Amino acid sequence: MVRTKTGIQGIDKALDGGFPEGNIVLISGGAGTGKSTLCTQFLINGASLFGERGLYISTEQTREELHRAADKFGWKLKELEDKSLIKIIYFDITGGDDFLNRVDTIVEEFKPKRIIIDSMTTLTDSLMISGIGEKEAFSMVQVAESVNPIPRTEQIMAKSILYRLIKELKKYKVTTLLTSELLEEYKGLSADGISEFICDGVIVLHHLTIGTKGFGNIQIRKMRYADHSHALFEVMIGERGITVGEETTVIT
Ligand SMILES: Nc1ncnc2c1ncn2[C@@H]1O[C@H](COP(=O)(O)OP(=O)(O)OP(=O)(O)O)[C@@H](O)[C@H]1O
Ligand SMILES: [Mg+2]
Repeated sequence: MVRTKTGIQGIDKALDGGFPEGNIVLISGGAGTGKSTLCTQFLINGASLFGERGLYISTEQTREELHRAADKFGWKLKELEDKSLIKIIYFDITGGDDFLNRVDTIVEEFKPKRIIIDSMTTLTDSLMISGIGEKEAFSMVQVAESVNPIPRTEQIMAKSILYRLIKELKKYKVTTLLTSELLEEYKGLSADGISEFICDGVIVLHHLTIGTKGFGNIQIRKMRYADHSHALFEVMIGERGITVGEETTVIT
C-alpha cells in the first residue's frame, strides 16, 4: 500500500511508514496543542521533501496568519506557493453547499496529493448554521422519531453533514487531515463525538503542564490499513516545528 509520509520521523515510524494513501485522518486536540502546526508541517514536508502538492483549507487562521506562523519556524511557505506546490484557501463562514462545490473545483484544478481542513469543528458548525444537510437530517429525524420519542435533532444533523462531507472527501482519494477541537474534560475523540468513527484514522494531541513547563504527547488512536503503534510519544514544538521523541507513559 502506498504511504503518505509526514516527514516527521517519530510519526512516520509509529505509522509504520506514513498514512495509508487516501486515508481521512482526524487530528484531535485541545487549544494550542499543535494541530495547525502539524498540518502545516505535513504540507511543507510533502512539498519540499517529496514534491507533493498540498491544499490547506483554513476556516480559522487567514493566509497571512498561517504565513506568520510558518515564518516563525523558518518554513518557506511563500516559495512553495509560488512553485504551485502549496495552496492556501481561507473560508470565512462558509455558505452551505457552496463549500463542497468550491472544494470540488479547487481539487480538480490543483490536483493535490494532500489536503488539510483546519478546522473541521468550525466548518461543521457553520455548515449546520447555513442549513446544509437539512434534508438528510429531516429524514433521519423521522426514522429516529419512530424508534425514539426524543429525537436528538442537532446531533443527527451534525452526523448527516459529517457523513456527506467525508463521503465527498473520500471521492478524491487524497490523504486528508481534519482538525478537531477537544475539550479537556470531554471523553470522546472529537468535538462532535462522531467523526472519530467515520474517519479512517484518529491522532490525538495532548498537552500537560508540570510545574512551569509545558509538555505534549501524541498518540495514534486509530489508523485503518496500517499496523501502527498505539503508544504515547513525547511531542515538542521547537524552533523548526514539531519533533516527536521517546515513547512515554504519561497519560493526560
Ligand atoms: N515558534 C514557536 N516555537 C515554539 N513553540 C511554538 C512556536 N509557535 C507556536 N508554538 C507553540 O505551539 C502552540 C500553537 O500551536 P498550534 O497553533 O499549531 O495549535 P492548535 O492546536 O492549532 O491551536 P488552536 O486550538 O488554537 O487551533 C502555541 O501555543 C505554542 O505553545
Ligand atoms: Mg489551530
